[in-house]
Amino acid sequence: MAFYPKTETDLSIEKDRLLNTVTAVFAACGMPDTDAATLAGTLVHSDMRGVHSHGVLRVPDYVGKMTREGVNPAANPKVISQKGGALVVDADNGMGQIGGTFAMDRAISAAREHGLAYAAVRNSNHCGALDWYAMRAAAKGMVGICGTNALPTMAPWGGKDKIVGINPLSVACPAEQENDLVLDFAFGETAHGKIRVYHQKGEPIPEGWAFDEDGFPTTDAGRALTGLIQPIGAHKGIGLGMMVGILSSLLSGAGYGLETGNMVHGPTAGKDGQFYLAIDIAAFVDPAEFRRRIDGIVAQVHGSARRDGVERLYVPGEIEAGFEAHYAAEGITLARTTVEDINAAVDSLGVAASHALPLADE
Ligand SMILES: NC(=O)c1ccc[n+]([C@@H]2O[C@H](COP(=O)([O-])OP(=O)(O)OC[C@H]3O[C@@H](n4cnc5c(N)ncnc54)[C@H](O)[C@@H]3O)[C@@H](O)[C@H]2O)c1
Repeated sequence: MAFYPKTETDLSIEKDRLLNTVTAVFAACGMPDTDAATLAGTLVHSDMRGVHSHGVLRVPDYVGKMTREGVNPAANPKVISQKGGALVVDADNGMGQIGGTFAMDRAISAAREHGLAYAAVRNSNHCGALDWYAMRAAAKGMVGICGTNALPTMAPWGGKDKIVGINPLSVACPAEQENDLVLDFAFGETAHGKIRVYHQKGEPIPEGWAFDEDGFPTTDAGRALTGLIQPIGAHKGIGLGMMVGILSSLLSGAGYGLETGNMVHGPTAGKDGQFYLAIDIAAFVDPAEFRRRIDGIVAQVHGSARRDGVERLYVPGEIEAGFEAHYAAEGITLARTTVEDINAAVDSLGVAASHALPLADE
């Protein structure tokens, strides 16, 4: 498997060291220690799985949310209603990861009793990468499914108004010998952040990523930023985005689409919503047989014919599992600017200087 090439300026940081530092930074924002460790754990998990866009790169953004932008660092999420496996969770305007981890864990417990459980979350905020939650259910031998709103960056198919989010979905299924299957992606061809990187470098974006303000395809990064993200699969991506947004909002009373904020002014604290579904396989079939069949499906993919020039066929989550093993052995590759930003937060929040991360490989 090919890993991101480590550039001359990139740094390798050991997982536990990163976790300790980022936990200390979030605790200094007013989070209880256990919540700070959970939030840091979600970001480090994303980096470990090679999903750096949702890793510790987000630290300055999250510090800002909790210290300046109205997100409650000391949130106390609660189940405010439950009918069988239907739960409504109020996330107390905390970081989405705190309400989300709470909600998925409650859904897993309720699914043991009821066969399946759906926790609809309101009064929440950005929840990061979704695989964290779906994988918690798979680790308990259940199928985990979850989704969230994202700020609207797409238009209805053929339209021009940014009213649909790229709203990601994650589904995780436990396996027996293989890694659990973990699908996790959004329904846009790209994300705003990726276009911003091209814009900063003054380079055109790849074809197929964006539309301009008039709704026509563009490779101009500037016009793409004021324009629209292209959906995956044309109208199908828009439909999927809308439905995940609805499932993330309307069953809990959270905001949908523009009610959660916009790309100019950013998110509105406490308006976001997510959903977390746990399915207890034992309520349907023998769980061991289910897991063996997942192994069989993985083997079928790996054993199927490849196009010329293709070295390997992957199943969902496999590339990320490869990163996890690689980074566990080698340390996590991080951009120097990411490490410097974390150290700046250590400094500005008065965290003990011993928590500063090394700016050279040790
Ligand atoms: N919280 C939010 O508002 C928000 C919004 C958007 C995205 N996200 C997160 O961003 C992350 C990245 O999303 P994305 O849409 O860029 O994902 P992506 O396009 O990188 O797709 C990743 C998924 O595709 C699978 N995959 C990749 N290459 C494959 C291959 N060759 N064969 C088989 N499967 C393959 C991966 O295993 C993974 O399941 C996700 O964790 C998502 O949850 C969060």
